[in-house]
Amino acid sequence: MNTISRSMLGVAAAAAIATLATSGVGAQSGADVQKAVDAAYAKFRGLQEGKNADYIPALAKVDPNLFGIAVVTADGKVYTAGDVKTEVSIQSISKVFTMAQVIQEQGLESIEGRIGVDATGARFNSIIAIEGVRTVVGTGAPEMNPLVNPGAISATSMVTGTTADQVWQKIIGFHNDAAGRNLSVLQDVYKSESDTNQRNQAIGALMLAYGYIKANWQQAVDLYTRQCSIGVNARDLAVMASTLAFAGKNPVTGKQVLDGSKVPGVLAVMATAGLYDDSGKWLYHTGLPAKSGVGGGIIAVSPGRFGIAVVSPPLDDAGNSVRAQRAIAEISNALGGNPYGRR
Ligand code: DON
Repeated sequence: MNTISRSMLGVAAAAAIATLATSGVGAQSGADVQKAVDAAYAKFRGLQEGKNADYIPALAKVDPNLFGIAVVTADGKVYTAGDVKTEVSIQSISKVFTMAQVIQEQGLESIEGRIGVDATGARFNSIIAIEGVRTVVGTGAPEMNPLVNPGAISATSMVTGTTADQVWQKIIGFHNDAAGRNLSVLQDVYKSESDTNQRNQAIGALMLAYGYIKANWQQAVDLYTRQCSIGVNARDLAVMASTLAFAGKNPVTGKQVLDGSKVPGVLAVMATAGLYDDSGKWLYHTGLPAKSGVGGGIIAVSPGRFGIAVVSPPLDDAGNSVRAQRAIAEISNALGGNPYGRR
């Protein structure tokens, strides 16, 4: 604000406007953000729809009443309600950050060229989808994406490193930077998923056979399983979402995690494929690039405004947390978060 308008408004009014502006959510104040978060928490706390994922046995044991909401704004402030400390496994939300890491290292064209950036219209672990889009790399454009299991396992295989441990340190390091703290693997989930992931092993072998994975599909499946078992709470996820909301810079730590020029590509894939079969419906109602995980988390991004995350384990038939979808939509609508609705 220039000096002329400052003197016209008077010091108190100018200070009030400065406070409003620093909340980073358009004309909303920090109090407005907290009010929206509290209201959504109160509204959906009692919602008893959906069921924990159980095809990974450890996920069935997570408390279905766990419910936490967090929103992070441009100034790095974190607004919360409910339980934002208890960790769940990140599951498919990790796919976003491993995709982002490959894009950061190898460019936007690397993911588009090897895996594709098109929705499959099939479930996240569909093998029919692999057959439907099967293209020997180099002979045509693959029509897969890195947010369904075949594309995600392939993206994990693209992270460079001479040993599995070197690759893992890069994957967990990128997640840590986006979350702003050191995360660790939930060993019970990792073991449970490793014991029961024969379907993902079949997908990994097929992706090698069809040229999406170049070598060692077993290592790719194992590292993918490990990344899905990273423990996160609602606060961590919201900080990760906010790193994408603010051009790749974590607003809490100030670290530039991903080049700003690469963020729109990441958000585009989230918008088209982040909530699986329900991605279109979700975008229709919220306009927000988002990503769900079968652990019960969802992250969503209102570019330039806020990152938001909710953790609540019961899922709907498409595999997306019921309370998380409802709470995020409610809060975003209250804050004018839909980028398509901006004037
Ligand atoms: O590969 C799997 O089945 C899980 N590790 C991740 C699936 C997932 O989170 C799908 N999400 N909605």
